[in-house]
Amino acid sequence: MSADDLKRHAAAKALEFVEPGMRLGLGTGSTAKHFVDLLAERVRAGLQVVGVPTSEVTRAQAERLGVPLTTLEATPELDLTVDGADEFDGALRLVKGGGGALLREKIVAAASARMIVITDGTKRVERLGRFPLPVEIATFGVEATRRAVVSALRSAGCSGEIVLRQNGAGQTFVTDGGHYIFDCRLGVIPDPEALATALAAVPGVMEHGLFLGLADAVIVAGENGVEVVGHPEGRASRG
Ligand code: A5P
Repeated sequence: MSADDLKRHAAAKALEFVEPGMRLGLGTGSTAKHFVDLLAERVRAGLQVVGVPTSEVTRAQAERLGVPLTTLEATPELDLTVDGADEFDGALRLVKGGGGALLREKIVAAASARMIVITDGTKRVERLGRFPLPVEIATFGVEATRRAVVSALRSAGCSGEIVLRQNGAGQTFVTDGGHYIFDCRLGVIPDPEALATALAAVPGVMEHGLFLGLADAVIVAGENGVEVVGHPEGRASRG
């Protein structure tokens, strides 16, 4: 089975948790793309839902496929967000932002009563940090922000190379929100909560890719089937 087949299986499983009338957060990335494809098939068959896209790419896909969209201005509370992840650990802590959509992804996930993450088994890690941590930053004062990020990393016991993300044309990558991204090659993040707190305190940091206490469940597709980790029907409270 190809990696893409596994992603589609995870997306199909997540669709089982979508109910008529739901207000959905629509994720970004190659796995979330499958979810939007499959959701659109259900919409064409009569399912009534509305979605808030987490990126312009997802917006374009949903519009093209006829999935009704809304905004967090018109619909500030969502029922369920389904999104991918770059890695997750046993406590359902995530690193996200490999596709550059972390800011909108986190706003949408935080506005949702539930978040289900769709992945394949390659994303599971013992300790977060194998995937370079994306940190979205203001375009003003990049070098000062880089130094402050280095200090924040150090205060949380992390170190490693920080790379200003480039696009395929060799130019600085710009997010949907008009910001840049530092990819922090840390290897391991010993204390994700401490790092999240330290990064959030840096003025030039718009958002970071640590998603802590947001995912209710992770759907993991593997060669031997689809595993659901956590509580896809939701927890009593988000912690
Ligand atoms: C987008 O910014 C990311 O957070 C994606 O959700 C993440 O990179 C997973 O993408 P894939 O499903 O393509 O691996």
